[in-house]
Amino acid sequence: MPRAADWTVREVDMPVPKLGEVLCRAIYLDVAPYMRGRISPQKNYAAGVRPGDMMVGGAIVEVIESRIDGVCEGCILVSDFDFGWQEYGVLKTGQFRHVDTGLAPMRAWLDVLGLNGITAYFGLLERGSLKAGDCVVVSAAAGSVGQLVGQIGKIAGARVVGVTSSKEKAASLGEFGFAEAVAYRGEADLAAALKTACPQGVDVFFDNTAGDIHDAVMQNLAPFARVVVCGTVSLAGRFEEPDMGQRFLRQILVARAEVRGFLVLDYQSRYDIARGRLGAWLREGRIGSRYDIAAGFEQTPAAFIRLLRSENIGKQLVQIREEPGD
Ligand SMILES: NC(=O)c1ccc[n+]([C@@H]2O[C@H](COP(=O)([O-])OP(=O)(O)OC[C@H]3O[C@@H](n4cnc5c(N)ncnc54)[C@H](OP(=O)(O)O)[C@@H]3O)[C@@H](O)[C@H]2O)c1
Repeated sequence: MPRAADWTVREVDMPVPKLGEVLCRAIYLDVAPYMRGRISPQKNYAAGVRPGDMMVGGAIVEVIESRIDGVCEGCILVSDFDFGWQEYGVLKTGQFRHVDTGLAPMRAWLDVLGLNGITAYFGLLERGSLKAGDCVVVSAAAGSVGQLVGQIGKIAGARVVGVTSSKEKAASLGEFGFAEAVAYRGEADLAAALKTACPQGVDVFFDNTAGDIHDAVMQNLAPFARVVVCGTVSLAGRFEEPDMGQRFLRQILVARAEVRGFLVLDYQSRYDIARGRLGAWLREGRIGSRYDIAAGFEQTPAAFIRLLRSENIGKQLVQIREEPGD
C-alpha cells in the first residue's frame, strides 16, 4: 500500500511552450486506480513510472500561453493521461481535448465524458454483451466507473446489483439506478448474499476489483454469463505475489460462461460515439455522478491512496484552484 510520504514535491522552472504546445495550469488533477499499476514493477499494458519520475495522470487545465492555432489563452482543456501530477505543465497537440462547459460541468470531463464513462459504456454494453432483462453485478459500485455502470445498465433495461465496501456506500447506490446493493465488509457469506440478490444468477459480472468479491460472484453465474474483467484494484497491495484464490473452471464450464478482459484503449476509434450517447443521457438527466473532491496540490497522493482504501464515494479528484469564473 503506497504512503503519502512516498511522493515528494519538486520545484522546477516554469516550462516554456514550443510551437505546437500550450502552457497550462491545473484546475483538477485526476487520481485513479490504474496509477497503482504504473508504480509497480510488474508487467502492465503501459510503461511504468519510475522512482524520481513525475506521476502520469489526467487533468482539467486552463491555457495560460498558447503556441497552437485554435487554442486560446483561457481555453479549458482535458488531458486523459499526459499532464501528470503538477500545477503547471505543457501539453502538445494530440494530448488534450477541448472542454465545453456548456455541455457538461468541468469535472464531468474526467468522469462520465472521460475514460471512465467510456469504460462503463463499452465494457457493459459491448464487452458484456448486455441484453434487456439481464442481471448485472458490478463491484466498486459506488466509485466512478461503478456508478455509471449502474445507470447505463438501468437505461438498457437490466437489473443492476452493486457490491461495495460499506453500508453507507451501499445506501448511496439507490440514486444511481441500482436495484440492490450488497455491502461486503462484515458480510460473512458474500456468495450467499449475492444469491439472495440475484436468485436467477448473474448474467453479466462487471469486475472492477478481483479478489474475494470476484470469488463470490463466480459462484453465482447464470447460464451463458459474461464476466468482464475491467479492474483488479483489490490486488493493489500484492502485485508481486500470485493471486491465490479459488479456481472457477467448473463454474465456467457448467454456466458456459465467457471471461473477457477489457481495456478502454482498444475502443479509441469509437470514443466519440460513446461520448455522444453519454452526453445526451447527461443532458436528459438520465445519468449523473457523485464526486469526491480533495483540495490542494499537496493532497494528491493522499487522494490517490483514498481510492486504494475504499474511502472515496464517487469520482475522486483533486481541485488545485477555483474554476475560472467561480
Ligand atoms: N480496463 C480499463 O480500461 C479501465 C478503465 C478505467 C477504470 N478501470 C478500472 O475500473 C475500476 C474502478 O475505477 P474507478 O476509477 O472508477 O475507481 P473507483 O471505483 O472510483 O475507486 C476505487 C474503488 O475500488 C474499491 N476498492 C479499493 N480497494 C479495494 C479492495 N482491496 N477490495 C475491493 N475493492 C476495493 C473501492 O470501492 P469499495 O468501497 O466498493 O470497495 C474504491 O472506492 C478500477 O479497477 C480501475 O482500474 C479500468
